[in-house]
Amino acid sequence: MMLVRSATERDLPEILEIYNQVLRDSTAIYDDVPSTLEERREWFEGRNQQGFPVLVAEDDGKVLGFASYGPWRARWGYRFTVEHSVHVHVDHRGTGMGRALLTALIPMAKEAGMHVMIGGIDAENVNSIRFHERFGFVEVGRAKQVARKFDRWLDLVTMQLFLNEPGARA
Ligand SMILES: CC(C)(COP(=O)(O)OP(=O)(O)OC[C@H]1O[C@@H](n2cnc3c(N)ncnc32)[C@H](O)[C@@H]1OP(=O)(O)O)[C@@H](O)C(=O)NCCC(=O)NCCS
Repeated sequence: MMLVRSATERDLPEILEIYNQVLRDSTAIYDDVPSTLEERREWFEGRNQQGFPVLVAEDDGKVLGFASYGPWRARWGYRFTVEHSVHVHVDHRGTGMGRALLTALIPMAKEAGMHVMIGGIDAENVNSIRFHERFGFVEVGRAKQVARKFDRWLDLVTMQLFLNEPGARA
């Protein structure tokens, strides 16, 4: 039985494993050096301190995916906009985990009074672009060759979702 719940510190080794597999084998994370448990702990504590959620999808007691959001940009004016991330274990993609995670995460951002959710997605990641379109995310920008990994230039697609009515009162 699959279950989406808030992450705890005990989930961090499995979150780290998923994160590092995505980092190592894909362009979905623009980094080269694998992350460490200590870095994941700092990230998790930072999210907790700022009141932002970290969710995991668990199946038979194993963490197979996670999702979170945080500030999109740091300045005060951006305080109603969040940027999310969602990653699913390589052996369990296409089985509804990502959908279950975002389905739980989006209402949390709405309840927190956020206005816009942003996803930064590598242009090669057509699965993720299609996946986000199903939730109503639309492409609002495509920054060309802003990243480099695996000896090639990469384009970053920015997709956004309105969490309440465009123009709504904050
Ligand atoms: C993108 C990602 C989060 C989507 O999560 P997921 O659990 O694989 O996707 P889901 O199964 O919930 O739904 C994806 C849709 O694509 C389809 N799909 C089929 N095979 C798939 C596959 N191998 N990978 C992704 N989607 C697949 C699903 O059927 C589903 O379609 P539907 O909504 O019409 O049923 C996940 O594939 C992933 O972690 N990818 C690698 C890291 C990554 O790209 N993260 C996002 C960075 S922006």
